[in-house]
Amino acid sequence: MRGVISATAAFVAVVGVALSASGLRPAPVKAVETYERKCSSCHGKEGALLEKGFEKKYRSDGELREMVESMPGAMGMRPEELDVMVAYTRAISRREPFLVWTTQGANTIEGEVSPGSATLRATAKRQTLKVSRPAPPRWRIELPKSVRLEDIEIVAQSGAHRVTLRLRESPYSHTK
Ligand code: HEC
Repeated sequence: MRGVISATAAFVAVVGVALSASGLRPAPVKAVETYERKCSSCHGKEGALLEKGFEKKYRSDGELREMVESMPGAMGMRPEELDVMVAYTRAISRREPFLVWTTQGANTIEGEVSPGSATLRATAKRQTLKVSRPAPPRWRIELPKSVRLEDIEIVAQSGAHRVTLRLRESPYSHTK
C-alpha cells in the first residue's frame, strides 16, 4: 500500500513539474470548433459571411468585444473565453489564418487552425517539430524531451497570409 501511495505521489509530482515548469497554459476554449458550432449558422463556415475588414467599423477593441458578447452564441461565455473568440473574429476580418493552442498532453500539444486548409510549420529554436493534422481544424505537435514550450513557434500560411504564434507570448494569435 505504501508503495502504491508513494508511486502515485511521485507521478503527481512529475506531472506537476511538467505542467508548471513553463507556467504556460493552453487557451480556455476551442475557439474554432466553438465558432463552427455556435456562430457559423449565421456567419458562414470559417467566417466566410463576415465582411472583410469589418473590425475597422469599431472605434475600440471594447466595442468589438461588446458586439461579440451580444451574439446569441456567446451567452454564458467566461471573459477569458470571449477574449479568444474576439481574437478569432479579428483574424477573420483580416482574412489571416488564426492559430490557437488548446490542449496539453504528456508529449504533445494540440490546437486548431482556421482556415483548415492553411499549411503549418513548427519549430523550437532551430529544431523543426513534427506537426500532424488529425482532422481539420485540429493540429498536433510531438514534443521531443528537450523542447521547452516557450521556445515553440508555429507558423500558419494561407494564400499570401502568414501568421506566427509564439507560445511564450500567448496561446492564441490576433490578441490585438
Ligand atoms: C442567429 C444569428 C447569429 C449568430 C448565431 C451569431 N451572430 Fe454574430 N451577428 C449576427 C447579426 C444579425 C449581426 C449584425 C448585428 C448588428 O449589426 O447589430 C452580427 C454581427 C457580428 C459581428 C460584427 C460583424 C460586423 O460586420 O460588424 C461579429 C464579429 C459577430 N457577429 C460574431 C459572432 C460570433 C463570434 C458568434 C458566435 C459566438 C456569433 N456572431 C453568432 C447574427 C448572429
